[in-house]
Amino acid sequence: MSFVLPEPLVFAGRMDAAEEASWLATLRLAMPAETIAPFRALDDDARQRAEIAIVANPDPADIAAMRGLAFVHSLWAGVERLVGELGPAAPPIVRLVDPSMSRVMAEAVLAWTHYLQRDMPAYARQQRERRWAPLPYRKPETMIVGLLGLGALGAAAASRLLDAGFRVAGWSRSPKTLPQVETFTGEDGLSALLAKSDVIVCLLPLTAETRGLLGARRLAEMKPGAALINFGRGPIVVATDLIEALDDGRLSHAVLDVFDEEPLDPASPFWAHPGVTVLPHITAPTDYATAAAVVASNVSNFRLSGRIPQHVEAARGY
Ligand code: NAP
Ligand code: GLV
Repeated sequence: MSFVLPEPLVFAGRMDAAEEASWLATLRLAMPAETIAPFRALDDDARQRAEIAIVANPDPADIAAMRGLAFVHSLWAGVERLVGELGPAAPPIVRLVDPSMSRVMAEAVLAWTHYLQRDMPAYARQQRERRWAPLPYRKPETMIVGLLGLGALGAAAASRLLDAGFRVAGWSRSPKTLPQVETFTGEDGLSALLAKSDVIVCLLPLTAETRGLLGARRLAEMKPGAALINFGRGPIVVATDLIEALDDGRLSHAVLDVFDEEPLDPASPFWAHPGVTVLPHITAPTDYATAAAVVASNVSNFRLSGRIPQHVEAARGY
């Protein structure tokens, strides 16, 4: 009896040696039956035979050099950079959909929603001014949190917010039914959601349709005094328009984890703006072990069935 050994999995990423070693060790632990080799260690023949590349910010030339790839498995959830850099000739791109990441994101959405609900930005300001001024308590059930995006992360956030007593609404591209969540689609649906939400949480992918979505017109549709949390991608929000809306007092606060340029330019007005909380893109980082387990499961299913896991639809861009 003879066995045909599967082709090695190729790891491709632009990172330092320590990070690469850490990824390789974690992936090998999760897939002991697979051979996993960094792209640079393979000769041209092996690169041509490669079927699966596991990638973290790869050099697009490395991916183009592997002509037989069945799919590329990203170690990040957001793949706009990969989609853009690999272009239309790219092999199918599988993004990271990790229940553990969804839990961490839901925790962050709840934490920063409570931060706003409990008026922490105002109390921080009052402390700096040595001012003792209790504000009225707002019950979670009097507040509507509007989620832009009801995918892997948005759906998990919705359920965590509901558990905490908030009212939840959500907007997605296709119609969705989620228990106790008022759902919206389309242009008018977005207007309706923005108008009724006390806090808007952006969990959209960055695509041609969502780039610049939250500009002056949409920000003006938000409920007066509402707050914005952007955990999706920076360019979905038009930075100058957001600053104007905060300066005018139309919006009360913005919690921003993602920016047009990262790291955020030291000259950015966001740093010192009293209405802005700046986070260094930390809300739901990839966890090496749980991400490797997700990749292992997708690879094993592919080995057994030949089916490519659910992947980015080129026309939608996510
Ligand atoms: P996902 O499962 O693909 O969900 C995306 C959601 O956005 C879906 O509900 C989708 O609608 C909706 N959507 C996309 N385009 C739309 C449009 N034009 N109009 C209305 N709705 C639209 O993605 P995910 O896993 O939840 O991740 C979302 C994003 O979070 C990622 O792309 C990434 O940028 C960001 N992220 C950030 C962090 C961080 O640490 N800050 C961590 C991980 C991910 P349908 O349901 O109809 O498809
Ligand atoms: C983080 O932002 C990711 O997309 O995984």
